[in-house]
Amino acid sequence: MTDDALSAEQREREEALVETVVASFADAPDDRLREIMQALTRHLHAFVRDVRLTEAEWNAGIEFLTAAGHITDDRRQEFILLSDVLGISMQTVAVNNEAYLDATEATVFGPFFVTDAPFVENGGDIAGGAPGQPCWVEGTVTDTEGRPVAGARIEVWEADEDGFYDVQYADDRIAGRAHLLTDEEGRYSFWGLTPTPYPIPADGPVGALLAAVNRSPMRASHLHFLVDAPGLRTLVTHIFVRGDELLASDSVFGVKESLVMDFDEQPPGTPTPDGRVLADTAWSRTRFDIVLAPEHV
Ligand code: BEZ
Ligand code: FE
Repeated sequence: MTDDALSAEQREREEALVETVVASFADAPDDRLREIMQALTRHLHAFVRDVRLTEAEWNAGIEFLTAAGHITDDRRQEFILLSDVLGISMQTVAVNNEAYLDATEATVFGPFFVTDAPFVENGGDIAGGAPGQPCWVEGTVTDTEGRPVAGARIEVWEADEDGFYDVQYADDRIAGRAHLLTDEEGRYSFWGLTPTPYPIPADGPVGALLAAVNRSPMRASHLHFLVDAPGLRTLVTHIFVRGDELLASDSVFGVKESLVMDFDEQPPGTPTPDGRVLADTAWSRTRFDIVLAPEHV
């Protein structure tokens, strides 16, 4: 039913309620909290009125949120997952990482970062024994004037070829993650794993929602980066694999064309950049040059 089909009296009742609720926040001492609560009220009421939400649908929504609460604990965060599959996480990333010259685009953080990942020297191996195809990753960190950033801290983390991060195993392993520092010329390099696709946790209410709307929980193959350097905007991003068929249907809308990289397949026996011997193993290599925006633009 459109708004036009409502009687004038009905429309007035609905609009009066919106204004009453908005006014209830008028005395909030914090200006920002007032702004957020009043805008949230207007948007939520507009949604209920737009779709003419039934009481049964309202109940189903409450049950969904209750189930999300029940499955959430300090290892599982179903509300962030919900935000991710609704594209709200990516919209928040977009709003908070405004495009600036050629600064590298940000994308969703995801739940699998851990602090205190081991330090690895440039050229070192971050796989930590995780299964997967070796991948040589190299690049530079510069600012938007093209100046190399020495000593930038780069955190990298990724799933193994079975689609699991180390923290998803029960044995306290640390694998597929590390931090490194750029050298004097802003360069970095490491051995990781060629990224492979994996599903977001789909055994809870968010997974049920995706199934109900015929959406896949799969994420496009990716490798996470968090790059931090004084005076520059911290970058949280990933790189994706050109040719991956999931690029167009990433379940959390994280893919940006500028973050899709060539991962060049190297047949077994191809000499490696650092002399590592991979006689019987195919490997891949990629390059990711990172540009950091100024901290305040
Ligand atoms: C991830 O990339 O690790 C991720 C992102 C959003 C939801 C689940 C996983
Ligand atoms: Fe991930």
